[in-house]
Amino acid sequence: MQEFITKSYPNQSPALAMPGQKLALSLKSFEAWRKYIYDSTGIYFQDNKKYLLESRLQKRIMHLGIKTFEEYLDFVKFNPSGSAELKYLYEAITINETFFFRNQPQLDALVTTILPEIISSKQKLGKNKIRIWSAASSSGEEAYSIAMMINDLIKPKYPNFDYEIVGTDISNAVIDTAKRGTYKEYSVRNTPAYYLKKYFKANGTAFELEHKIKSMATFKLLNLYDDLSMRTMINFDVIFCANVLIYFDQTSKIKVINHLYNSLLKGGYLFIGYSETLHGISKAFKLTSFPKTIGYKKE
Ligand SMILES: C[S@@+](CC[C@H](N)C(=O)[O-])C[C@H]1O[C@@H](n2cnc3c(N)ncnc32)[C@H](O)[C@@H]1O
Repeated sequence: MQEFITKSYPNQSPALAMPGQKLALSLKSFEAWRKYIYDSTGIYFQDNKKYLLESRLQKRIMHLGIKTFEEYLDFVKFNPSGSAELKYLYEAITINETFFFRNQPQLDALVTTILPEIISSKQKLGKNKIRIWSAASSSGEEAYSIAMMINDLIKPKYPNFDYEIVGTDISNAVIDTAKRGTYKEYSVRNTPAYYLKKYFKANGTAFELEHKIKSMATFKLLNLYDDLSMRTMINFDVIFCANVLIYFDQTSKIKVINHLYNSLLKGGYLFIGYSETLHGISKAFKLTSFPKTIGYKKE
């Protein structure tokens, strides 16, 4: 970083932020940052989120010892090592709130109706693989909740099927946590006692997920806004893409939902978050009701 500052501003001595010093994000710089973040992730910072962006970027800027928001943007955009910095940028700007069994009605719909329906049509075609994608998985709680329920309620009935669960997120840090499979009490607070006892081992204040469940899911980095990466995600039976559309604007929602539609097999289902809707975003799916929840079917 020091090297970048010196090279880019050869006539100035490296200008480093002082610890504890507060940097101000000007309106012009906010707009430049907003555009950059939007163009690369689809995440749109509304005007009223300026202070949130300011405080989140500030932490990283102070850590690097850069002086201004503008210099940091130049660094991310133009410096050869800027692409490595994206990892930290994405960690700084994302909100990764999640927990196990966050949306029980969706999980119930999956194991009581959707999987039996899909499995029965696959059996007729001589196929034996189910693929489920937790898109924007954060630290993996949703993917592993699915794995626990499949292990308990689906596998015993259909032992000859393969169940592949993939979790993806734009943030490196949460993908690492997902791979580790060790959680704090906060994450398991909504976990039914039965599953907590059966599949977790308490270790001090941590809860370690049993290897059998961990091995049912894989995790990788993926930006839902990146066309090339999205084209690699195909042939899924069910996609959960919950609580991420809220960070996008209408145009990026349409783009991502179109991609997810293409990622699904015919007869597959998409679930989004409680407070999210595809109204005005896509007419391609058939809205399908389940007890206490709705899903979107690709017919
Ligand atoms: C609030 S969490 C939701 C986690 C989980 N789906 C749930 O409902 O509990 C939103 C996640 O979306 C991820 N995210 C935001 N923009 C993304 C993008 N463009 N591509 C992939 N993931 C993204 C964030 O890193 C964050 O982990």
